[in-house]
Amino acid sequence: MSITIKSPSDIEGMRTAGRLASEVLDMLAAHVVPGVSTERLDQLAHQHITQVQQAIPAPLNYTPPGYVPYPKSICTSVNHQICHGIPNERPLKNGDIVNIDVTVIKDGWHGDTSRMFVVGEGSIAAKRLCTITYDAMWRGIAKVKPGARLGDIGHAIQSFAEAQGFSVVREFCGHGIGQKFHEEPQVLHYGRPGTLEELVPGMTFTIEPMINAGRREIRELGDGWTIVTKDRSLSAQWEHTVLVTDTGFEVLTLSAGTPPPPAFISPGN
Ligand code: MF3
Ligand code: CO
Ligand code: CO
Repeated sequence: MSITIKSPSDIEGMRTAGRLASEVLDMLAAHVVPGVSTERLDQLAHQHITQVQQAIPAPLNYTPPGYVPYPKSICTSVNHQICHGIPNERPLKNGDIVNIDVTVIKDGWHGDTSRMFVVGEGSIAAKRLCTITYDAMWRGIAKVKPGARLGDIGHAIQSFAEAQGFSVVREFCGHGIGQKFHEEPQVLHYGRPGTLEELVPGMTFTIEPMINAGRREIRELGDGWTIVTKDRSLSAQWEHTVLVTDTGFEVLTLSAGTPPPPAFISPGN
């Protein structure tokens, strides 16, 4: 298989799916408070996606080769959890940081996006990790234009994150997305400029860096999904689904509540 190029009507489908995924995060935002369980957030998301949006939560029962079926509708990764955290009954507490990752399928198209939330009042260090990771994602997005290469994206993210004293997770990456949840290409969050696949208008893929406050090494929990930092340091992640346009990029996972781009992003790219 190779990288799929989306037609104008495919892109319409991707825009809708992307907006819906982002709107799930908008809806959840007010519920991310001390005392709420991630299980409750999952219930709210499942209800909204299936009943309000008439869409499908892509994670539910998702079973890549070598995995057990994913049991919930969203991923919730708390503190030293890097990604793929499974919602559970434990209440969130003041100062926790949580990544909520939402993927919806609408009319056969996938939209995939995640944000960090600080529960109550976060420490300076936790908030800094979340902000730097957000900026790292955007450093990658800003590289997206025809003729650029995937290595440009990875390098922009890695060089920025490491300059702040943080580390980049290597084992998980962004991915092509469309009628499949995960398709080609792999979008590494580290690398060298001018290497790997050249970007072409109509490509759609995610950029979703996982950045650790400590060392980059990971460990998988016994549930078959949850990935944590080996040194138990905090980890953050943000994710957008993006389209390569004729002149640059379009972020497809946009909604009323999407945080604005950092100041270093010039309008109209
Ligand atoms: N949404 C994740 C990603 O960004 C994938 C989660 S797979 C799941 O690629 F099964 F855990 F949901
Ligand atoms: Co993704
Ligand atoms: Co995701």
